[in-house]
Amino acid sequence: MTDTPIDDTTMNEPPVNEIPFDILQHATLTLPDGQTADLPIVVGSEGEKAVDIARLRATTGYITLDDGYTNTGSCMSDITFIDGEKGILRYRGYPIQEIAKRCSFVEAAQLVIWGELPTPEQRHHFSDILAENSALPEDFLPHFSAFPPHAHPMSILSAMVNALQTYDLPGMTIDSDEEFERVSATLISKVRTIAAASFKSSIGEPIMYPRYDLRYVENFLHMMFSRPYRDYVPSAEATRALNLFLILHADHEQNCSTSTVRMVASGQANLYASVAAGVCALWGPLHGGANQAVIEMLDLIQESGMSTREYITKVKDRTAGIKLMGFGHRVYRSYDPRAQILKQACDDLLESLHITDPRLAIARELEEVALEDDYFVQRKLYPNVDFYSGTILTALGIPPEMFTVIFAIGRVAGWIANWKEIHDSANSRIYRPRQIYTGPNEREWINRFQRERNTTQGFIVPEELRSHTA
Ligand SMILES: CC(C)(COP(=O)(O)OP(=O)(O)OC[C@H]1O[C@@H](n2cnc3c(N)ncnc32)[C@H](O)[C@@H]1OP(=O)(O)O)[C@@H](O)C(=O)NCCC(=O)NCCS
Repeated sequence: MTDTPIDDTTMNEPPVNEIPFDILQHATLTLPDGQTADLPIVVGSEGEKAVDIARLRATTGYITLDDGYTNTGSCMSDITFIDGEKGILRYRGYPIQEIAKRCSFVEAAQLVIWGELPTPEQRHHFSDILAENSALPEDFLPHFSAFPPHAHPMSILSAMVNALQTYDLPGMTIDSDEEFERVSATLISKVRTIAAASFKSSIGEPIMYPRYDLRYVENFLHMMFSRPYRDYVPSAEATRALNLFLILHADHEQNCSTSTVRMVASGQANLYASVAAGVCALWGPLHGGANQAVIEMLDLIQESGMSTREYITKVKDRTAGIKLMGFGHRVYRSYDPRAQILKQACDDLLESLHITDPRLAIARELEEVALEDDYFVQRKLYPNVDFYSGTILTALGIPPEMFTVIFAIGRVAGWIANWKEIHDSANSRIYRPRQIYTGPNEREWINRFQRERNTTQGFIVPEELRSHTA
């Protein structure tokens, strides 16, 4: 890498980020070659500080390196605030505890997407368009039977959300507030219908149509559990628990799937494609797939007869390569506030439904053992949102393969809000990180039959052919 400052005018580098307030401070970075860079300090509305390095490469030739983005702010956003040290989570300034107590999921989604709590008129209007858009097009339904039996519902969800766009060609280009509202409502409403349809087709039952008279969560439970000849009527407790689950998953600032949605949106991909990318990113067991992994872990402990202490010992041992699923978080370094709310909700739900789930007892014991153990204390590993959520979903009759799908239904709100920030920003640029290249330097071409055994491909070139040229 050159140590010579690169000419600003030839690099097409970004201007200093568009910062909606005055820069009061700068940091000075001194590099090994003696160059110095004057870097603006950006302060967020909650006092969070960042060093703005947008022009660092243009002025010095250096980039910053932060594998895994532990220390990198990828954007400025008005949506969600987290203080991981203090265990604070707020959507648009409202504490998650308040939202969880007072909101329906649909209201929380409106808050997350549009930034304000909806008025009663806005609430009713949005409910109406959710209902209008809840059913899937008739010629869309046969796609479900084309998936093989036992296909994972997350595969079906991501494919179908993307496919939905082909049934909404005008929704490709959103150029008005009304159109954005319509496409958002379509996604929020239909993602739930697709989720239930993927479940029904995976168990070989007929897909249920949504009902106009039911509210968002009841309608989902109806599509999951009703049969053509028998209506399922969820209990108030079940509805409340699922509503809470969706609220707590509605947004969580720049997590893996939301960053993916922003990345895709930054290339000006449409809202359906961006949300479908979010579904794929959510699937992994280190992210949204953790709720399924927690239940599998609890089942394994129960079935093997191993004690919770033995399991914790295995986790700490690290040779087995297992983690305590549902524990730890990139941002929270104290209790995840969502886990606190869900733990209580889990106790309440199981009590009200008179369910005794041995997994809950194992989860409680694991938590107790881990929170007293130096390994977890020193690394500040606490239960995260996924630790108790699987037990709640199990109590609602939802199978583990559907857990991450339900997470996605909630998170669609946050993905849409983040897509909107990119879409509405006059200064949005394509997300395109740089890298530090560590591969071979330029080298001479090797003709096909002169190539030696290659460790990545393992082929052997017969001796007699080695003299042949490619
Ligand atoms: C969430 C998670 C991916 C965060 O990853 P991260 O920020 O990269 O955390 P790190 O890997 O830097 O963890 C720091 C240390 O704690 C350990 N650690 C983190 N989570 C752990 C867990 N669940 N069980 C055991 N050890 C864990 C790491 O091995 C590392 O140890 P080391 O410093 O001795 O190498 C990680 O905690 C995890 O895998 N948790 C389990 C999966 C899960 O519940 N995901 C849902 C998130 S909401």
